[in-house]
Amino acid sequence: MKYIIRTLIVIAVVAAAGLIFLYSGTYNISAMVPHNKITLWMIHRLTDNSEEHYSKNIVAPNLNDSSMVMTGFLHYREMCQTCHGAPGIERSEIGKGLYPHPPNLAHSAKEMPPSMLFWITKNGIKMTGMPAFGKTHTDDKIWDIVAFLEKLPNMTKEQYQLLDDATKGKSVE
Ligand code: HEC
Repeated sequence: MKYIIRTLIVIAVVAAAGLIFLYSGTYNISAMVPHNKITLWMIHRLTDNSEEHYSKNIVAPNLNDSSMVMTGFLHYREMCQTCHGAPGIERSEIGKGLYPHPPNLAHSAKEMPPSMLFWITKNGIKMTGMPAFGKTHTDDKIWDIVAFLEKLPNMTKEQYQLLDDATKGKSVE
């Protein structure tokens, strides 16, 4: 009985300390200051495991289709480049100011399967600035973007520039 009462007291004290901390306003929510290591560890575990869980049953179509890649490029330039940058192109001021930082998607495409790239592009990521494009784009359009992302790791800045020049003024519906 004593043991149960002691445990309940410890739980109540920890919960009260947590609430006092939450309401104190001392956690610095500024995007200029990185999270502490424990918060970062928790966010990364939550994000990585969620992305894996929700994308594992998605089956990718054939992404080796040059018209898909081309449409994907137009979407990428219009909607992703500003935050994520591109070969030879830095992230914009918006991308530079975000925390967490929008990663270089050439690295992400090497590390993640197409199903995960698709799921993230469609659903976005809560509280990071990564938008959910599934609200405005069909699955087909999102696969076009993934087809382009798959080409990013081997794309030079000259190749990106060529694509950019060849499609000046062209945008996507
Ligand atoms: C307004 C800024 C913004 C725009 C626009 C944006 N993203 Fe992101 N994106 C982010 C941020 C910030 C993250 C980092 C999220 C995190 O750390 O969990 C991210 C993460 C990602 C990731 C996960 C990468 C990884 O290695 O974990 C993918 C994939 C991604 N974005 C794809 C896209 C695509 C494709 C587009 C365009 C269709 C796009 N994003 C447009 C801000 C943006």
